[in-house]
Amino acid sequence: MARVPLHDRPILITGASSGIGEATARLCAKAGMPVLLAARRTDRLAEVAGSIIKAGGRAEAVGCDVSDEAQCRRAVERCVEVFGSIYAVFANAGFGVEAPVLESDGAIFDDMMKVNYHGSMHVVRYALEPMRAARSGHVLFCSSCLSKIGLPFYSAYCISKAAQDYAARALRHELRAEGIRVSSVHPTSTRTEFFDLARTRSRDIKFDLSGRTAFMHPPEKVGRAVVRCLRRPRGEVWTSPLLRFILGVAVICPETTDRVLRRIARKRGHPV
Ligand SMILES: NC(=O)c1ccc[n+]([C@@H]2O[C@H](COP(=O)([O-])OP(=O)(O)OC[C@H]3O[C@@H](n4cnc5c(N)ncnc54)[C@H](OP(=O)(O)O)[C@@H]3O)[C@@H](O)[C@H]2O)c1
Repeated sequence: MARVPLHDRPILITGASSGIGEATARLCAKAGMPVLLAARRTDRLAEVAGSIIKAGGRAEAVGCDVSDEAQCRRAVERCVEVFGSIYAVFANAGFGVEAPVLESDGAIFDDMMKVNYHGSMHVVRYALEPMRAARSGHVLFCSSCLSKIGLPFYSAYCISKAAQDYAARALRHELRAEGIRVSSVHPTSTRTEFFDLARTRSRDIKFDLSGRTAFMHPPEKVGRAVVRCLRRPRGEVWTSPLLRFILGVAVICPETTDRVLRRIARKRGHPV
């Protein structure tokens, strides 16, 4: 497939005030894309936008809580107002919490779905209006490697990430004839504020994911993979081919996966 030129093609990135969103915004701007940065912490967004502009890129910040549909619509409108169009959207805003399944059916589960799944869908739905009119565009969801399995104590998070993954898979087919690409991004452990926030939001940590693992990498690695996918669109983006393979095997061998997870949990002092 021919390389997609990114210069002057605007992208809206949610969760751009830190971590993967911030790193991706900087790399997209470096590739010549005007970047609309969206998140709740507007002071952080202003800093990121300022440093992108100082480095010669184009950026604009907009305060946006993705759980509020009207704010998502406003973010898309702002992108079109400031940059004249919207070529791509990276629905990246999200968070994680550790909680057993039976304690995740109230506020924890609702909050997680409101932000991680419905928040992505709000921003994607509004971004698709101008993209469909232009018969061109690229939608990317920041899912997770954990979208493929149900990790103990992370069910709400895994479900929200699987929901994004499944939405991306279906949309990919539904929108292809209209010239719109849809991709899901599946980072492995990434060194961001994610783990600190998960620790403060969780009542109890049993299956801490923040420990050093061979799969821990910097957010720029995800950002580079996203830019590669924008240039050469593909269905799924993985930052670790090895983990992609392991999780593929995990899906077809659930009993073996359960045994491995039990061993990991035992090693961490929390037998399941
Ligand atoms: N870190 C990992 O190991 C890892 C692995 C796989 C997937 N992911 C996914 O990667 C994405 C980015 O996470 P990260 O690792 O970069 O963590 P992060 O540094 O904590 O970034 C999360 C971003 O989401 C934004 N956000 C959270 N709730 C929001 C809301 N209601 N409205 C708008 N923005 C909101 C935050 O901005 P504000 O607080 O300013 O609103 C922040 O910019 C998440 O979807 C996460 O699930 C992370």
